[in-house]
Amino acid sequence: MAAIRFVVIVLVISSDKHRTGSPNYRRGTRENRFHGVVRKAKITREETCNDASRGLSSQLLFKHIDAWVAELADAGDLKSLVRKDVRVRAPPQVLLFTMKPTTKPNRPFFSSGPCSKRPGWSLSALGEALVGRSHRAKPAKARIQEVIDRSASILGLPEGYICGIVPASDTGAVEMAMWSLLGQRGVEMCAWESFGSGWVTDAVKQLKLENVTHHGADYGKLPDLSQINCHNDVVFTYNGTTSGVKVPHLDWIPDDRKGLTICDATSAVFAMDIDFSKCDVVTWSWQKVMGGEGAHGMIVLSPRAVERLETYSPPWPLPKIFRMTKGGKLIADIFTGATINTVSMLCVEDAVDGLRWAESIGGLPALIRRSEANLKAMADWVARTDWVDFLAEDPATISNTSICLKITADWYTALPAEEQAAKAKQLVSLLEKEGVGYDFASYRDAPAGLRIWGGATVETADIEALLPWLDWAFKQIA
Ligand SMILES: Cc1ncc(COP(=O)(O)O)c(C=O)c1O
Repeated sequence: MAAIRFVVIVLVISSDKHRTGSPNYRRGTRENRFHGVVRKAKITREETCNDASRGLSSQLLFKHIDAWVAELADAGDLKSLVRKDVRVRAPPQVLLFTMKPTTKPNRPFFSSGPCSKRPGWSLSALGEALVGRSHRAKPAKARIQEVIDRSASILGLPEGYICGIVPASDTGAVEMAMWSLLGQRGVEMCAWESFGSGWVTDAVKQLKLENVTHHGADYGKLPDLSQINCHNDVVFTYNGTTSGVKVPHLDWIPDDRKGLTICDATSAVFAMDIDFSKCDVVTWSWQKVMGGEGAHGMIVLSPRAVERLETYSPPWPLPKIFRMTKGGKLIADIFTGATINTVSMLCVEDAVDGLRWAESIGGLPALIRRSEANLKAMADWVARTDWVDFLAEDPATISNTSICLKITADWYTALPAEEQAAKAKQLVSLLEKEGVGYDFASYRDAPAGLRIWGGATVETADIEALLPWLDWAFKQIA
């Protein structure tokens, strides 16, 4: 099917040069003045395809114009709006309306992990890294301890909860918790995307647990959380990074639960208001919301989780990097700066840098606000855009970090799955080539679409700058 080649706007402005000099024109904000000019445009459409439904309605076209004008006005780039060819006397002038935006995000980093570094970050942030020193040396241990202390303080961990740095990133932290704690009672395994499903595989196929209840849901949905029996142990993901679906709250976890709740919160911690009192184990990694370097995992344990560690020995062997107890006692050193094995002091330094930045901007509330502002910018755009929607079906579950979008245009949804995936990839690589946005294709196992990271290190202005490019790129692949 032939695509629309272009849309032509005929601007009926008899003398824009004179208009820009008129008193009326000088009144009001620059942006409004340009809206005024553009709204005088009469729009015609020229289509080379028979399928008129694929053309842009004039209403939609005006929406694009508005976004374009606002963007140019923001960028102070008003000259390029009133192009020379529109400003000459003889009407009507014709402007090819290809709508390639002019403003690019300052930091085009929208990956869901490793995520964008904090604003203002440069390699010089690592200048004080204790490289070449033993991680057991006093100053190195102090730096490791600083990561633990600042993390616990920013997150406001409840009294009695402990926090440690462990090997193998978030996966290491989740699996050491599963291997160390599960098997004492039944387990409720909850999964609504790829990583949660991985933990189900661990429980069923690797640990070969027998009493497992699986609470599963497709991409975009959550299982019925009220059906989860918290007198069993529970393993769940706070934010499904690959589906953009988060749990809206933890009210479904009773305070008097008998089981332990193990929460993989890697793409939620520092961006969502997690009620830690409902969790017995919380895990994350440095490269997500704080934009640190990937390598190590973080694990938080409640007093009940520590009690389980000290009173229960699983029937399977535990490799050294999973062991948190010795002789039936917690290895407390792991939670006070003496890591199980060697850490990267460069990564530690970067983690400290991120945490200091978080404190400097106002701590957890500021981090959450920044991330929610990013989601708001996306949501406003989704609301006014007719080709895209959130993958999350329930608005209360839409992630403010891994913002997953599906393409809803009729011509797109009519394509076979592989072609949909190829088109979405084409859109992303178009914008990568333009240097506008990197790494925002949906996860390989997730439905085809886009996944744009909106964590706290991403500036809302950069999300806003990306949006017109998404519209532009979508037109290119149509
Ligand atoms: C929810 C979730 N769990 C686990 C992981 C694996 O994390 P890591 O690579 O830090 O082990 C990821 C990575 O994106 C994730 O999003």
